[in-house]
Amino acid sequence: MIEKLTIRAAELRDSQAIGDLCGQLGYEVDRDRMQRRFMQIMQDPAQILRVASDNCNGLAGWAHALPVCYLEAEAFIEIGGLVVNKSCRRMGIGQALMTSVEDWAREIGITTIRLRSNINRQGAHQFYRNIGYEIVKQQYTFVKKL
Ligand SMILES: CC(C)(COP(=O)(O)OP(=O)(O)OC[C@H]1O[C@@H](n2cnc3c(N)ncnc32)[C@H](O)[C@@H]1OP(=O)(O)O)[C@@H](O)C(=O)NCCC(=O)NCCS
Repeated sequence: MIEKLTIRAAELRDSQAIGDLCGQLGYEVDRDRMQRRFMQIMQDPAQILRVASDNCNGLAGWAHALPVCYLEAEAFIEIGGLVVNKSCRRMGIGQALMTSVEDWAREIGITTIRLRSNINRQGAHQFYRNIGYEIVKQQYTFVKKL
């Protein structure tokens, strides 16, 4: 049972727990790599990394978001990642994290949030629909390793 949930900006002391939750998102990452990525994000004032913390069990989840600017669209906020600890799902934490991102987007004058979600994440799709997001297209992801 979560006693008191706070949504706040991530801090250095959160990096290990954020890395652990990255594993729950399906992206296992070792401590050094996580630390490097974490620092890159923390040092970029354009991006936000918000965490949900409670007063007993540590981190309950995180959300990463960043502005994206393309020629073919008005600037929007992209969700870089969102995960809630398995032990705390269906308690409103994912929604609270997304609300925090949306509030920030409004503050900086951006009115669209976009995210990509693997076709297999059906629970997450239901979550996004239930908090007001709609699927606007389906696409492939192309990658070239250099
Ligand atoms: C998707 C995720 C972030 C949702 O977080 P959460 O804290 O459990 O979600 P909330 O409790 O805020 O859910 C709000 C509403 O969304 C809906 N919802 C959430 N998860 C759902 C699921 N698995 N199936 C169906 N509906 C769901 C429900 O309507 C829920 O309200 P209710 O519990 O009162 O019915 C979480 O399940 C998660 O971390 N999943 C694994 C990682 C992931 O897939 N991330 C998204 C990558 S794109």
